[in-house]
Amino acid sequence: MSSSDFYMGNNNDQWNRFCDLLFFDEEIGIWLDISRMSCSKKDLDNIKDPFKKAFLAMQKLEDGAIANQDENRQVGHYWLRNPEISKDLDISNSIKDSITDIAEFGNDILAGRIQNEKGESFTDVLWIGIGGSGLGPLLLVNSLQKTGSGLNFTFIDNVDPNGINQKLNSLKDNLSKTLCVVVSKSGGTPEPQIAMDQARYFFKKNGYNWSSRAVAITMSDSALDRKALSEKWLKTFDLPDWVGGRTSVTGAVGLLPLALIGEDLNKFLMGASLMDKLTREKDIYHNPAALLASSWFYAGKGKGLRDMVVLPYQDRLEVFSKYLQQLVMESLGKQESRLGEIVNQGLAVYGNKGSTDQHAYVQQLRDGIDNFFVTFIEILEDNKNIPLINKKSPGDYLSGFLQGTRLALSENKRQSVTITLRVFNALTLGSLIALFERSVGLYAELIDINAYHQPGVEAGKKAASNILVLQSKIETVLEERDGLSIQKICELIPDSSEESIFFILRHLSANTNKYKIMGDWSNPRSLKINNSN
Ligand code: PA5
Repeated sequence: MSSSDFYMGNNNDQWNRFCDLLFFDEEIGIWLDISRMSCSKKDLDNIKDPFKKAFLAMQKLEDGAIANQDENRQVGHYWLRNPEISKDLDISNSIKDSITDIAEFGNDILAGRIQNEKGESFTDVLWIGIGGSGLGPLLLVNSLQKTGSGLNFTFIDNVDPNGINQKLNSLKDNLSKTLCVVVSKSGGTPEPQIAMDQARYFFKKNGYNWSSRAVAITMSDSALDRKALSEKWLKTFDLPDWVGGRTSVTGAVGLLPLALIGEDLNKFLMGASLMDKLTREKDIYHNPAALLASSWFYAGKGKGLRDMVVLPYQDRLEVFSKYLQQLVMESLGKQESRLGEIVNQGLAVYGNKGSTDQHAYVQQLRDGIDNFFVTFIEILEDNKNIPLINKKSPGDYLSGFLQGTRLALSENKRQSVTITLRVFNALTLGSLIALFERSVGLYAELIDINAYHQPGVEAGKKAASNILVLQSKIETVLEERDGLSIQKICELIPDSSEESIFFILRHLSANTNKYKIMGDWSNPRSLKINNSN
């Protein structure tokens, strides 16, 4: 069978291929099927040598090597769920202490032993954090929280004034009983900082104290850490330097929300740890992460030429597509290889959930441009509270829709991976996340890029702060002079650009009466800006 004719065989060939490639682990209750990907047994044999190197690199990373060389950092998320494997006793002790501390804090909040300034128990959490500091918690809460268990979560992960306004006001009835968690590993990302300032102001305006309800998760000695310390916030949890944002979900970033919804932290960690054990296996056929990474590699010719469409057939896993989008794209989307060659690597990820998406873009997947592969995620155990009607449960239909779509796609020679979990809970979610973390790590080794830095994100943060500096400069220039054109303002502010000035003034003019902008908006060169006063 060549690498591209996986779908050409007869039923018997397909069945044999399915059986030969199927991975299963009883303890987690997980199956991985890559038989509908264009990756032959010969391909898997050919990739064995590159994998030997990849496994060695992962071993070194787990042993504490500086795996993120550009930032001169260790990469320690695998230690978080198995502290014993860290070779540094201080690190392994600190992880264990942190798990105990978070579990105790969560229990104290849920049991009302920690209360607000009026002696009331907390009922709500306002979680402020972006990227790795927001998506994992959102995924955990959305997928695992049981009705009536733990605190109600509201997430702010942006600086959109509409979003902030709507979310803060939605808390109003329970504001006094709301715990505020601000998460920023660096402690300097503008979005959480701006959202925090707004939240703080809102609490104060409504007569509530901030520090006694505020919790920080951040790196030791970051600006946020120092603020929390000097203002005597309720609690601070450490986010160590050696944990990357998008792989921080098995650290305090994920454990605190689990504790606050009354979930068992250890089950989640155990799931990740069990998967880590499976994905250290050196035989590709028995290592689910190696199978997954190989299938990505051949599908996209090692260049990410096919997008990954994530389709969990579960409402509660809707956020998983977004979570994977960050984990995969921020890790693999890199301009340079580790040797400094321009490679422009990546693996685009999008998705939402099935069967809903069968009534949206699945039409194009089956019949349109063939530039993707699907990752189906199936949970076998259905909710037993839903009755059978006409001898069938909605779960039977959901399973039928998944299978039907998988078959319809392969009939049209479209590729797919299927991951099946027997049950869904904190343990299996932990294992699912760990499967993708390791697959990303191994795939990055195959294509020789650094999966653990994010220069593009940093560049975006810097560019945004430059724009805000420019806005202040424009305001200063306009305080002094009237009737200036955009070109003139640009001349007066070194290193500025007309286009940025236009964008800033257009936004300002929609929000303030401070400036009178005269001229024709369709001809930016004609605009003249006056102070209104
Ligand atoms: O994965 C990453 O490193 C990023 O997505 C970060 O999580 C994100 O930029 C937020 O950073 P911080 O937690 O430092 O505020």
